[in-house]
This record gives sequence, structure tokens and C-alpha cells, in this order.
Amino acid sequence: MKSLIIANWKCNPVTLVEAGNLFNTIRRGIKGIKKAEVVVCPPFIFLESLVRLSSKTISLGAQDCFWENKGAFTGEVSPAMIKKIGVNYVILGHSERRKYFSETDEVVNKKIKKSLKEKLKPILCIGETIEEKKQGDKIKVIREELKRGLKGISQKEIKNIIIAYEPIWAIGTGENCSIEETMSSVLLIRKMISKIYSRQIAAKTRILYGGSVTSRNAGDYIKTIGVNGLLVGGASLKPNEFLNIVKSGQ
Ligand code: PGA
Repeated sequence: MKSLIIANWKCNPVTLVEAGNLFNTIRRGIKGIKKAEVVVCPPFIFLESLVRLSSKTISLGAQDCFWENKGAFTGEVSPAMIKKIGVNYVILGHSERRKYFSETDEVVNKKIKKSLKEKLKPILCIGETIEEKKQGDKIKVIREELKRGLKGISQKEIKNIIIAYEPIWAIGTGENCSIEETMSSVLLIRKMISKIYSRQIAAKTRILYGGSVTSRNAGDYIKTIGVNGLLVGGASLKPNEFLNIVKSGQ
């Protein structure tokens, strides 16, 4: 299986020129790389322009979407709109959405369901805060976020979902999660999926790690059994750094 490296640009950059330059530099740099699949998730406003620059080796994802396809929902962007312009992935339940926009597991679940109906591949983000970790609630948080996020999702549909384990304390802090801890969380996620669905499905589910990934630590995660790729925030805005992350699995 190729490792899946996802760039989450968050609310960056400001202009289409900058976005186009960044995307083109990454696209050129990954030519010839066989062991990785790259997905870039820019702000909504740049998606349609960047889709035109995408290729087989680099595709696009949205950072969020709404749970209905159209209607009186001011400010929202729907899964159908995203799919129709040629985008195939969508990040859902990112901790910044949960924190700043009060997204609950129930909201995330509705968004996942609608995205799947539109044939988008959701990247479901889960992970504990530092307080939850200190209180010994990590396992409980991972279980609950998975159970609620995947509620009502069929055996067939789960095959199109990617899970990203992103401990919130590791996001944007420079404090990445240790390999041992990542391995145990990823194993827990796989066990949960096995319990809800089946062992075969759990074995095939792609589980990524995210949180302060850099070119210095990326290789360690990619080489870790059970980790199928990375969700990269800050480092994905620096083209050389991001390219080194992508290359670290070669
Ligand atoms: P980071 O962000 O790589 O800047 O820690 C990861 C993410 O939020 O997906």
C-alpha cells in the first residue's frame, strides 16, 4: 500500500498566486515518487483553480464541508459542490473545527454520511487534548469519537473512510507524539474498527498520524507498522520541507 501524505494548508495562503506556486512546486517535486500518494487540502476558494493543475500523483481535498447539498445555509459549502469540481477528499472533524466552531461528533457524523453519498473520501480526525491525556482519558476519547463519528456507517462505506489520529496537544506545538504512543493509539483504533465492522475491514482501513510532523520525524512514522500515512499542517506550507516528508518513505 502506498503511504498517503495529506497537506492541510488550513487558512493559508492569502492569494491564489501563492497557492498556485506552492501547489506547482509540490507537484513538480513529487514527480517520480512511487511509494506515496499526495493530497493537498487548500482553502475552499482555491480548490477549483488547483484542480486544473492536479495530476494522477497529486489530488485535492477540502478541509470541511456541510451536511446538506443545497439550500438556505448561508456560508456553507456542500459535498456535491466539492465533488462536482473534481475534488475527491474531505477532512472532517479536525480539532480546530471542533474547538473554534463547536463541531460535535454528531455534526461530524452527518458530514461524513453526506460526503460518502457524494463519493467523497472523508478523512476523519480524532485525538485527545492534553487534559484528557493527563487524566488518563485518552482511550475513552478515541473510542467515543470513533463510535459516534462512524455511527450508522455501513461495511461498504467504511472502506472509503480514512482515519487520522491527531493528538490535539501535538498539533502545531512542535511536540510530536512518540512512535510508541502513536503505535498504541493506532492499534486501539484498528481494534475498535474490527469490533464495529470486521478484522478484514480493520486491516484495510487507512490510519494516518498527524501532529507536528516534520522531515525529521516523518520517516519514523511512515516506517511504523500500522501507520499508513501522515496529515501534515504547518510543514506543508514549506515546499522543500513537505517534499522531504513525502520522500521520507522512499
Ligand atoms: P501540524 O498540524 O502539522 O501543524 O501540527 C497538523 C494538523 O492540524 O492537521
